[in-house]
Amino acid sequence: MNIEDIKKELQQILGTKRFQHSLSTAEMAVSLSKRHGVSPEQAELAALLHDCARGYSIHEMREQIATHQVELDEVEQKEPGLWHAPLSAIMAEVRFNVKEEDILQSIRIHSTGNHGMSLLDKIIYISDYTEYHRKHLRVEDIRELAPHNLNLAVLMTINIKIAYLLEQEVLIHPRSIFARNDLLAQGVKK
Ligand SMILES: [Fe+2]
Ligand SMILES: [Fe+2]
Repeated sequence: MNIEDIKKELQQILGTKRFQHSLSTAEMAVSLSKRHGVSPEQAELAALLHDCARGYSIHEMREQIATHQVELDEVEQKEPGLWHAPLSAIMAEVRFNVKEEDILQSIRIHSTGNHGMSLLDKIIYISDYTEYHRKHLRVEDIRELAPHNLNLAVLMTINIKIAYLLEQEVLIHPRSIFARNDLLAQGVKK
């Protein structure tokens, strides 16, 4: 499936707003990939597809999880907001025929992060948070920082996301903590 066919199909399954988010995430991911020596083709494909299961209702996601025997951990089981990332990776493989594990992995962890994130994982994580439609807290700072210091941009994003989750009193996935610890242990700081 070529990129134009993928875009056409995504537009149908995601609806306008989410499709625009995916396009914009891809635009940012391509730009960051060029700055950080990652394949722009990989970055574009991963970013376009990172939310491809986002169009499902909770009920449909439950069905897909059962059909594809997705193993959810204890936190994921309790937090439906975390389901679309592993499901998007599965849809990318099954429906869009993406076989590259690097790409699937970056989709799978795009909302939580993880320890040992690859450059591609970091680019997708940041691009999702800072694409041009986003108006999140400190998004402009992170947008400016990411081309120069990807690790610090990831750390800032994780910190903001964790602070938000704390405030909301909802579960925090351990992968986000692993990602943060990993960067701090590497000496990444402001
Ligand atoms: Fe997402
Ligand atoms: Fe997203």
